[in-house]
Amino acid sequence: MSTNTSIKVPLLDLRAQYDTIRPEVDDAVRKIMESCGFIGGPEIKGLEEEIARYSQSAHAVACASGTDAILMALWTLGIGPGDEVISPAYTFFATAGTIANNGATPVFVDVDPKTFNLDVHLLEKAITPRTKAVVAVSLFGQCCDIPAIKAICDKHQIYLIEDAAQSIGSEWEGKRSGSMCDFGTFSFFPSKNLGGAGDGGMVVTQNAELADKLRLLCNHGAKPKYYHSLVGTNSRLDALQAAILRVKLRHLDRWSEKRAKNAALYNQLFEGSKVGTPFHDPRTRHIYNQYIIRVANRDGLKAHLGEKNIGCEVYYPVPLHVQQCFAHLGYKAGDMPVSEQAAAETLALPIYPELMDEQIRYVAQTVRDFVEKQ
Ligand SMILES: Cc1ncc(COP(=O)(O)O)c(C=O)c1O
Repeated sequence: MSTNTSIKVPLLDLRAQYDTIRPEVDDAVRKIMESCGFIGGPEIKGLEEEIARYSQSAHAVACASGTDAILMALWTLGIGPGDEVISPAYTFFATAGTIANNGATPVFVDVDPKTFNLDVHLLEKAITPRTKAVVAVSLFGQCCDIPAIKAICDKHQIYLIEDAAQSIGSEWEGKRSGSMCDFGTFSFFPSKNLGGAGDGGMVVTQNAELADKLRLLCNHGAKPKYYHSLVGTNSRLDALQAAILRVKLRHLDRWSEKRAKNAALYNQLFEGSKVGTPFHDPRTRHIYNQYIIRVANRDGLKAHLGEKNIGCEVYYPVPLHVQQCFAHLGYKAGDMPVSEQAAAETLALPIYPELMDEQIRYVAQTVRDFVEKQ
């Protein structure tokens, strides 16, 4: 097949998504503007109930972002100075940034070379008497092996948080991402499968007491208003965001299925090539927040795709253990070889639900042509 230079493929096309749901979204926004109920209210409560149900969780608490969701979960568990919290080395910065912002020390563990999720075999070795929690990430939309991680956490009596920012609706053996730990945390950043029109986040838990404390901390520790039993902060989701997210939640499964279908087409088109395609653990439902390939000359391919009007991105170029801000922790290059190799070789291709097969074929052929010339 020859590549067609007239095709443009962005990494994400939120405008195309909006075009498919415009009347529903506009109606939801108009209702909020007419009611002027911008803080709290029925849209927040409704979204919390719907996300709790969607995520097979007893409780859900809305907050300002996916970052705050992790921050508030750690805070609720009383994690602070002197404590160690384990994080994968290969993830978005917020997973470990929130540990440091709570005054605790991030301890990094390398990831599995196939799934890019925390390598369960390395976890126990990283646990010390100071370890208070693990933040396990379900990266790129594939739930990590929570049962195995939880068994280790239970044995050592430490908390487990699932950073499910990228994995809402993903499953491990039929159990929803976020539902199997002390806390599961979601992000509604616009590029997520369930993305708002700005920032937003949600924490889910099966534990009523933890949910109450977290809710209190997200509202300055006040209940009733102006009576503060705890020093908390303002981490709330806007009613406008909740109203938009409730519309989008109705479409989420269809969108995630379409992402999986797009991934299957890419996989087929890359068959027999030197392009490394994503590993899908058959125990999971993969929601493909990202479609990640591995190639030898990744930076060369990225530049080439840019020239061909194909959006792509490196998630993530620098693993967390070698980030400048964590230099004081004493890690060095070579400590987390799988994370370091992933950071050098991986590239996210467009996978959003509105992609047309013709666009996927164009992207796949352009990638194949480049890789074959190497
Ligand atoms: C794995 C992971 N954790 C945490 C976050 C933070 O979410 P937010 O951007 O909503 O603060 C993100 C979002 O990019 C993420 O991908």
